[in-house]
Amino acid sequence: MTTSSVPVLDFGSQTAQLIVRRIRELGVYSELLPHDAPVEQVLALDPRGIILSGGPASVYEPGAPGLPDWLRETTLPVLGICYGMQLQSQALGGVVLRPDRREYGPAVIAVASDSLLFAATPHEQQVWMSHGDRIEALPPGFHSLAQNENTPFAAMGDERRHWYGVQFHPEVVHTTYGRNILRNFLYTICRCTGDWQPANFVAQAVERVRERVCAGRVICALSGGVDSAVAALIIHKAIGDRLTCVFVDNGLLRLGEADQVIATFRQHFHIPLAAVNAAEEFLAALEGVADPESKRKIIGEKFVRIFEREARHLDDAQFLAQGTLYPDVIESSAPDRKKGATIKTHHNVGGLPPDMQMTLVEPLRYMFKDEVRAAGLELGLPEEWVWRHPFPGPGLAVRVLGPVTWERLETLRRADAIFIEELRAADLYRSTQQVFAVLLPVQSVGVMGDGRTYADTIALRAITTEDYMTADWARLPYDLLARVSSRIVNEVEQVNRVVYDISSKPPATIEWE
Ligand code: XMP
Repeated sequence: MTTSSVPVLDFGSQTAQLIVRRIRELGVYSELLPHDAPVEQVLALDPRGIILSGGPASVYEPGAPGLPDWLRETTLPVLGICYGMQLQSQALGGVVLRPDRREYGPAVIAVASDSLLFAATPHEQQVWMSHGDRIEALPPGFHSLAQNENTPFAAMGDERRHWYGVQFHPEVVHTTYGRNILRNFLYTICRCTGDWQPANFVAQAVERVRERVCAGRVICALSGGVDSAVAALIIHKAIGDRLTCVFVDNGLLRLGEADQVIATFRQHFHIPLAAVNAAEEFLAALEGVADPESKRKIIGEKFVRIFEREARHLDDAQFLAQGTLYPDVIESSAPDRKKGATIKTHHNVGGLPPDMQMTLVEPLRYMFKDEVRAAGLELGLPEEWVWRHPFPGPGLAVRVLGPVTWERLETLRRADAIFIEELRAADLYRSTQQVFAVLLPVQSVGVMGDGRTYADTIALRAITTEDYMTADWARLPYDLLARVSSRIVNEVEQVNRVVYDISSKPPATIEWE
C-alpha cells in the first residue's frame, strides 16, 4: 500500500521533525529521510515534491552535506528551507556568503504576494530567522520572492522549474503564515490531494507488522500507557491470537493501577492478557540502589528477562512488541545529528540489555504522539486511556529519590493519588500534560498537634508541554495546591511538608531522576 508524500531530506536542523509534523497536519504524508538517502528510498514514498531542511553547516565548509545528484535532474517541485535554500543556491550557480552578523529571531519580510508560494498571505508578515550565511546572488532562473532590511533574498523561486527557497523557518509557530506557505507549496505547487490522515497509519502499520512477523508469535508489553495499548491493538489487527499481552506489576506502579489497567483492558478487548506479579523480584533487585541510571538499567534488564521467561511459556514467542515512537527513531538513527550527552537512559522499558533474545516489533515507529492518540480513538481505546498522562517505564522508582523501599513507595503512592484525585476534581487533568508527586530524600521538622515531627517531604510536579522536550511548570490555582497539601499532610502520616516544583525544562527535566 502506498500513499503519496512530500518527504523531507534531513540536513540536521533542530526543527526537521517539525517540518514533517506540519506536512502531516496539513493532510499530506511525510517522512524524514537522511539527506543522502538513495533515490530508490525516496521514490518508494511516491513523492509529489521534496523539502530540504535547514542544518547547522555552511555550504562552503569542507565536508558540508551537498545537494544529492539525483535532485538536480528531478522534475519534482523542491522547497529549500534555510540551509536547504543556501544549498539550492550554491548548487545552481548562485553565491552564498557569511555576513558580519547572524540573523536570529523574529523578522518582518515583504513578500511578492502574486507568487504561488505566498498566495493569500499579507504583503508584510512576521517570520522566524535562524541563520549565519545568506544568499548574495541568486542562481540563474530564480528571482526574489521576499526581502527584509537584512537581505533582498529572504525567499526565492524559479516558478518555471517549481523550485523555491525560504531563508526563514515556515515550520515554527513564530512564522505567522508558515502553515499557509507550506499549504501553498503542498497543494498549489506540488498538487497534493490531501487524502492522508492519522487513521491511515493503522492500515499501514497493520501491513508492516504482518510482513515482519509472518507466522511468528508476539508478546506485547502492556504498560497502561496509550502507546503500548495502541501497539497491541494494531498487532492484534495484524495477527489476531498470535499476540499475547503481558502486564508486569513491578511494584513501582501508582495506587490501584495494576488492577485498573487489567480490568479495563479485559473489559474492552478480547486479547489474551497475562498478568505477572513481579513486585518482590524488582524490589529485591533495587535494594540499596540510589543512583538513577543504575535504577533504570536494573529495571530495564528485569523487564526483558521476565518477557523472555513469559515468551517461553507462550509457545516460544520470538517477537517483543513495544511502543517506540517516530521522534525516538529519528533521534537515534539520523546521520549528521550530533549525539548529545546522555541525560537519562530513556527507553520504554528502561534500557534493553544487549543480549536480548527476542526480535523487536515497533508498530508506532513512524507515528508522532498525537497520531498515536488519534489511532487509539479509531481503534476503540477508551478516551480515558487515550488521554492518560505519560508514566515513565521505571515507574515510581525514579520518583522515590534515593533507595527504593516498599514503605517509601506506599507513602508516595498515597500522596500521588491525592494529587491526581484533586486535579481531576478541579477539571485540570486534560489541560496539563504530566502531573505527579515525588518523595524527596529530605526530612524536616514540623509541628502537629502539640508535638514535634521529623518527617518526609513531598514535591508536587505539574507541567504543560507540547512535546515533552521542553516544558513549563503549570500555574495551578493556589486553592488547589492548598487542598492537596493539606490532604497529604493529614492523610499520609509519614509526610509533614509539601513543596511545589516551579522549574521549567530546561534547565530541569520533567522527572527528578
Ligand atoms: P524527562 O524527565 O527526561 O522526561 O524530562 C521526559 C518524558 O519522558 C518520560 N520518561 C521516561 N519514559 N522511560 C520512559 O518510558 C524512562 O526511562 C523515562 N524517563 C523519563 C517522563 O515521564 C516525561 O514524560
